[in-house]
Amino acid sequence: MDFLSLALSTIAGAFSLLLLFKLSTKKLFNSSYPPAVGSIINEIINYRRLYDYHTDLCRNYRTYRLLYPWSSEIYTANPANIEYFLKTNFSNYEKGRSNYEIMSDFLGDGIFTVDGDKWRQQRKLASYEFSTKAVKDYSSHVFTKNAAALAHKVSEIAAPNKVIDMQELLMKSTLDTIFIIGFGVELSSLLGAEENGKAFAEAFNETNALIFWRYVDFLWKFKRFFNVGAEAKLKKSIQTIDELIYKVIHSKRKLISTQDHSNKADILSRFIALSEKEPEKITDKFLRDIIINFMTAGRDTTAVTLSWFLSMVCRNPQVEEKIVEEVRESVKQGNEEERVETIEEFANSLTDAAMDKMPYLHAALSETLRLYPAVPLGGLRMCLGREFAYRQMKITAAILLRFFRFRFKDENKKIKYRTMFTLHIDGGLQLLAFPR
Ligand code: HEM
Repeated sequence: MDFLSLALSTIAGAFSLLLLFKLSTKKLFNSSYPPAVGSIINEIINYRRLYDYHTDLCRNYRTYRLLYPWSSEIYTANPANIEYFLKTNFSNYEKGRSNYEIMSDFLGDGIFTVDGDKWRQQRKLASYEFSTKAVKDYSSHVFTKNAAALAHKVSEIAAPNKVIDMQELLMKSTLDTIFIIGFGVELSSLLGAEENGKAFAEAFNETNALIFWRYVDFLWKFKRFFNVGAEAKLKKSIQTIDELIYKVIHSKRKLISTQDHSNKADILSRFIALSEKEPEKITDKFLRDIIINFMTAGRDTTAVTLSWFLSMVCRNPQVEEKIVEEVRESVKQGNEEERVETIEEFANSLTDAAMDKMPYLHAALSETLRLYPAVPLGGLRMCLGREFAYRQMKITAAILLRFFRFRFKDENKKIKYRTMFTLHIDGGLQLLAFPR
């Protein structure tokens, strides 16, 4: 973040905290509240290593509070508390007004930002969507097709000493996937030239990081008003994203006017069908918010988890060999000998039954999520796409590891994350790929 913003925020933070300490000493030292162990200033100072900062606090306190100028926030790593928030007393907790204010310039009135009936309606429809057999079968087909396309891409690029940014490739692949399954449209036909895709991906990453910065920059509203600093950048990034999203909407509307969309499997068509009785609800803005929220949920999470997974595999070749062995065994029919097969042949053999025979791969992905949680600060809700995400990650990992051995370009380079909503590897994941 820019230094001016940092300095301004720190000074204003110190001032406001002083005020807060003066006004609320009672609450600060009240033993019925979790201990107040830091403030927004600590978060700003530790911003680049924010999740390590929180991990250190969790080790010492498990449940604690951080003080912000006008409120305090509770963080917990205690499973009993998490069960209480997510399940036992779920209805008592909301995303709340301040989260809405921070996120809604980007995520609008989508599932991630809203509470109450607005949330319930979207949750119900999307849960139904994820559980239907038609969507399950269709999504598995798209996962294998896109993972095979990714393997071909790696194969085209792979050459001795040729470095591949696997995180970038995985992001592209998961974005293509969510466009087809979520919105029923081909992304490549909307993007046109490859540079447009790059500009879009950059804008998406920037927005993710800049919106997250608002949590510690309590001058953000002031900056937004004057359109300066991080907020000016954010506005531009959101505009770039919106341009593409409105293209999606126009192409979807065209499809709707020419075809019967009521039996289409994608999430967007279902939302449109649901709102048919109240057509005034299906504004372009309504559709935009749905698209952005599902894109956010479906693109980064699986791509970053697979990136961290590949980095873990590079560090643990013995685990890599066990996964590859399990993957090969799982697709074998009876006592047949292993044979040379094409990427497509192998991808088509990844049936549900074959995937069920890969508990070790499943565990390796779960361990990756434990060590590198894709959404590090968990929110109050259960992921809707969990089963969907595991299926996609297992299929992609199985195909990539079956056909390639990955190694770091530079074994000594420390891999770090970038502080944002989702745990991206800072600067990408530079790997060499060797065909198996
Ligand atoms: C490794 C992959 C994934 C991880 C770690 C993950 C994690 C999470 C977390 C922590 C939340 C709760 C956020 C909050 O309370 O604010 C969440 C919510 C959600 N996830 Fe996932 N997710 C993943 C993949 C996916 C995928 C692939 C989809 C589907 C496209 C998806 C759809 C959703 C939706 C729709 C919500 C919002 C639920 C609600 O607000 O009711 N997720 N996810």
